[in-house]
Amino acid sequence: LYIVHIAAEMAPVAKVGGLGDVVTGLGKTLQKKGHLVEIILPKYDCMQYDGIHDLRALDVTVESYFDGKLFQNKIWVGTVEGLPVYFIEPHHPNKFFWRGQYYGEHDDFKRFSFFSRAALEFLLQAGKKPDIIHCHDWQTAFVAPLYWDLYAPKGLNSARICFTCHNFEYQGTASASELASCGLDAQELNRPDRMQDNTAHDSVNPVKGAIVFSNIVTTVSPTYAQEVRTAEGGKGLHSTLNSHSRKFMGILNGIDTDAWNPATDNFLKVQYSANDMQGKAENKAAMRRNLGLSSADDQWPLVGCITRLVPQKGVHLIKHAIYRTLEMGGQFVLLGSSPVPHIQREFEGIANQFQNHECIRLILKYDESLSHAIYAASDMFIIPSIFEPCGLTQMIAMRYGSVPIARKTGGLNDSVFDVNEETIPHQIRNGFTFTTPDEQGINGAVERAFNFYKNNKESWKQLVQKNMNIDFSWDSSASRYEELYAKSISRARAQAS
Ligand code: ADP
Ligand code: GLC
Repeated sequence: LYIVHIAAEMAPVAKVGGLGDVVTGLGKTLQKKGHLVEIILPKYDCMQYDGIHDLRALDVTVESYFDGKLFQNKIWVGTVEGLPVYFIEPHHPNKFFWRGQYYGEHDDFKRFSFFSRAALEFLLQAGKKPDIIHCHDWQTAFVAPLYWDLYAPKGLNSARICFTCHNFEYQGTASASELASCGLDAQELNRPDRMQDNTAHDSVNPVKGAIVFSNIVTTVSPTYAQEVRTAEGGKGLHSTLNSHSRKFMGILNGIDTDAWNPATDNFLKVQYSANDMQGKAENKAAMRRNLGLSSADDQWPLVGCITRLVPQKGVHLIKHAIYRTLEMGGQFVLLGSSPVPHIQREFEGIANQFQNHECIRLILKYDESLSHAIYAASDMFIIPSIFEPCGLTQMIAMRYGSVPIARKTGGLNDSVFDVNEETIPHQIRNGFTFTTPDEQGINGAVERAFNFYKNNKESWKQLVQKNMNIDFSWDSSASRYEELYAKSISRARAQAS
């Protein structure tokens, strides 16, 4: 098949969180399975340009409509992780992707509706005829209504549209009048069975639009797919998902096992594998030295946490875990940053409080290389999310021999299984889980993990080695996407004949 992903992130060149990992990991695996896979991204000024190979501008520009006018887009092509990527650079006076950051601008709705339309315009003008156009999250959700309203009639009509929602918290809702900028008919679409937001009726909701107008709708784990179909978990979209339930399903993400491999990871001080664990101890020693943590006592564990510091991730529980770890004699290293100013300030306060402490370190920034070092150095990894569509850090942690302590929600519920849970087959138990999102809940799991670590050294080692051998690759999940693509294509053919 010819599959085009239109997205706002792609690891490692333009990554904010897991979305970037997924676009690259899924794309690479589909390519390995023999499909032609291409990615379309905005050309951000702040990308990691050294990760893009053979970047060059195409000779032709693409003209796209916005706010009643036509704008030129320069199209760049390059290779990222072996995948062909087209980067769209709009010549628009607002310099949409020249802002020094990916998201969080006051005009994000305009920036990404412009991009969605320009991406489709590029496919049309370049004569590309993908079988599947796969868009991700609200930023590229506009592709679905734009495709059926404007591009299928223009001849780009061979494609099926797949939309993956990585997080229903972010829906991109805006005043209905905003929609006209990218050429969509606001009046037509601002209706309850189309893009009208389910709670604010003068607003349109791009995610709702993509649910309604796509052929395939997925989210990133089976448990989250169930949660979002309830009033409690659906962030206002449960009724829409329930009325489109036949085309909606949850597929658990994988991780890119080439990028995340302790045996070949160049970010690590020493590489290691499940059969040769000495290197893990050396990474831990190096991290303690580099961060000025004491290395005197090894009876208690080093706990890692790498996360965007947003309410979804259970920031109050993360804070609590830091103090509980300290009380119990362990060490804690947190790498994270927050787009929410008061949360960032609060964690800066804690970081300062502990800046010379020998057991706690908070590093409040985004740092790819340090993230690899922490996965490798830590014995345990904490993910106390309030909700978690999938979560990748628990899988990466296990691959690096760090045992997860996770709240049972969303994709964590589908990938972390408690070592003491008798109803679960012994061979798939891999971590420590808790349900109630309060101090008592997390204390219970942390204490069980610490005591296991301290008192059962041999069993702990076996657990770590078993976890490192779990198959978290994209292989089986990418096959699920292949099946969905194929089914949708054959349904379209059957309808046409
Ligand atoms: P989300 O996408 O909700 O942030 P995921 O668990 O799906 O959560 O993915 C998070 C990804 O971002 C992981 O690859 C993780 O290692 C990475 N990450 C998160 N915060 C940081 C940070 N401060 N520095 C480096 N990498 C980070
Ligand atoms: C979102 C979710 C996270 C998921 C990631 C990739 O950022 O918050 O749970 O793993 O997307 O799908």
